[in-house]
Order: sequence, then C-alpha cells, then structure tokens
Amino acid sequence: MLEVTALPLDELRERTSEKWREYPDDVLPLFVAETDFPLAPEITAALQRALDAGDTGYVASRTPLAASYAAFAQRRFGWQVDPERIRTTADVSMGIVEILRRVTQPGERVVVMPPIYPPFFDLVEEAGADVVRVPLRDTGAAWEMDLDGIRAALEDGASAVLLCNPHNPTGTVHAREALTALGEVAEEFGVAVVSDEIHAPLAQPGTGFTPFLEAGDAARRVGYAVVSASKAFNLAGLKCALMVTADDTTGAVVRSLPIEVEWRTGQFGSIAASAAFSEASDAWLDGLLHTLDANRMLVGDLLSERIPQARYRIPDAGYLAWIDLSALGWGDAPARRILKDARVAVSSGPTFGTEGAGHVRLNFGTSPEILTEAIERIAALVGR
Ligand SMILES: Cc1ncc(COP(=O)(O)O)c(C=O)c1O
Repeated sequence: MLEVTALPLDELRERTSEKWREYPDDVLPLFVAETDFPLAPEITAALQRALDAGDTGYVASRTPLAASYAAFAQRRFGWQVDPERIRTTADVSMGIVEILRRVTQPGERVVVMPPIYPPFFDLVEEAGADVVRVPLRDTGAAWEMDLDGIRAALEDGASAVLLCNPHNPTGTVHAREALTALGEVAEEFGVAVVSDEIHAPLAQPGTGFTPFLEAGDAARRVGYAVVSASKAFNLAGLKCALMVTADDTTGAVVRSLPIEVEWRTGQFGSIAASAAFSEASDAWLDGLLHTLDANRMLVGDLLSERIPQARYRIPDAGYLAWIDLSALGWGDAPARRILKDARVAVSSGPTFGTEGAGHVRLNFGTSPEILTEAIERIAALVGR
C-alpha cells in the first residue's frame, strides 16, 4: 500500500491558495475543501513536462482526458462511459450552471436537498431558476433522499433535480435503489437530474457508490453527471471538469452548449486530470483513501473522547465531517466561536441550509497531528 501522508504545517503555510491565505497563521484552516497532501507523482510529472515544454496554450479540442476518464470509470466504478459523450468545462459549478440553463426555463424550480454544499443555492439562481428545498431525511442511522418529498415537488411543477452523489456535507453515498427510484420519478415527470459526482473517487471501498447514470435505464435517460479529479487529487485551481451523459437526448443537450463552455477548460487542469485518472495514479488514490479512512475514524475517536456532546456519523466518502454541536449550546453557528476562541476555521452549518443550525463541517483531509490539535483546541472551549 502506497502511503499518502499530509505535508507538515510549515510547508503547508507556504501555499498561497484560499485555504492558506484566508486566515492568519494562528488559525488552523479546516474549512474549504482543499487537501493537505502532496500531489500524486503522475500529476506532478505531467505538469512538469508541460512546464518544461511551455505547453501553456489553450486546451485542445481532442485530448486524452475523455478516454482516461472512461477507463477510470470502468476500473473504479464498473461504469461504462462512452468517451464521445464527454465534454469538458472549467469546473463542476460551471458544468452544473450550463446544464441547468438548458434544462430549465427562467423562473422554474430546481430541487436541492439540504443540508447541502452552499453554492448549490447560488448555482440554481445563476442558471435563472429558483430553489425548491427537499431536505435529506435523517433515519437515525443514516441520511437518505426524501423521495416522497421530491415527488411532491415535481408534482408541484419543479423542473429539475440537482443531486449531490456522494453528498456534501454529510458524506452520504446514496443507495443504488434510491438513485434508481429518483431516475424513475424524474422520468415520470419528464425532468432532468443533474448529478454532481465530484466526491465520487473518494467513496470508501465497500460503501457501494453508484454513479447516477449507472442506476438504471430511467436514470441513464434523464441524467447528467458532472465529475472532476479536483477533490480527490486537489486540483481545484487548475480548472477542469467533465460533463457526462449516457443517452442521445441528454448528449444532444450537452453538445448544444456553446464551444466557449469547453474553451474555458484549463490546459493544466486537463493535463493534470488525464494523469489523475490514469491507471498509474490508482495506487496513490488507494493510499489516499486508506489515509482518509483512518482520519474519519480518528475524528470519531477524538470527538467521543474530548467532546462527547458532539454528534458525528462516519461519512461514506470524502474528507468532510458533518458535526452536530447543538448540545454544547453555542448557538446556530458554533463555527463563529470556534474561530474566535479556538482559532480553528471550520465551515458554518447554517450556510448549508437551516438544517445546518448548530453544526459545523470540518475538513479532515489533513494530518492526524493537525486534526488532533484542532479538536483539542475546540474541546478546550467546552464548559468555558
Ligand atoms: C459537491 C461539490 N460540488 C462542487 C464543488 C466545487 O467544484 P468546482 O471547483 O469544480 O466548481 C465542490 C467543492 O468543494 C463540492 O464539494
């Protein structure tokens, strides 16, 4: 097993990205979804070759990326993707907006399932539509989509569903049956499902991740998947995402997007993503998943030891911990006190929707040392 370990704090502080520049140096930044690992060696090598060659022009209309992703999807998810049905763009957010613009009319409503990655609310608006909220249901053991609620929203005229698979912030891998049922209800009402699968490469083994377009014939006909290497391989700044379809009608919609949508793909993003999705990077990704598995457990151990009032469910995927701190009585937005008094930056629960009151989202894509220090600092505030 290849060991993938996070960089030490002094090296991380040399970085100039949002995670490392938003707050002063006494703050441990565990908010935005960037990770603290070095790049996978194949990515570094590919980018280095491009730098050495001055290969920094526009992305080509034909690149190895589509084939690289199709092979990755087959190896990792058993999902057969036709490379001809892939188009790229700058990032997952842009892919979502551009597809929503095509599948909704201005003023129509799009189903969103809070607590949810906060920009979803804005992306729907950017596409000219309105959000209709159908919160995830907490069964007591897991979160799941409220399929009855979604059906009711569609009966009431909503014209698309924006799915997060796996779900941010809860890290939920949706059950195949639920995805199949979502596809069927969407087809019944003639609406599109846009599935954000940015966290998919980070689904832990055994959690049963299903790409939406693999969840049945209806899902294949109504679905659009937007995928990227950016979360698993920490490439968000390089700007590259892929829009994938599995049907002639949906394929025609993506093909009809202006060529400019594709031109906004970053050349470095495309080069890096091809390397990320190549078989040569599989061992690195497996090593990362192993590290994140240990970290998601460590968060649980540290919380039960040091902040037993916290409620935390081990996520199926990703590196984000959704933590309910309401029992501490720190109000709707405990992230504020945690930043001010513990000097730890976590994402504030209410920005994920009203369901996030009393919650924080903590990024554990870092070292055990930083995680331990952060949770110790927060624990030191309890009872104070
Ligand atoms: C679910 C989800 N979608 C989209 C994004 C943003 O992706 P991009 O930078 O490719 O727009 C994130 C970033 O954390 C995310 O968690």
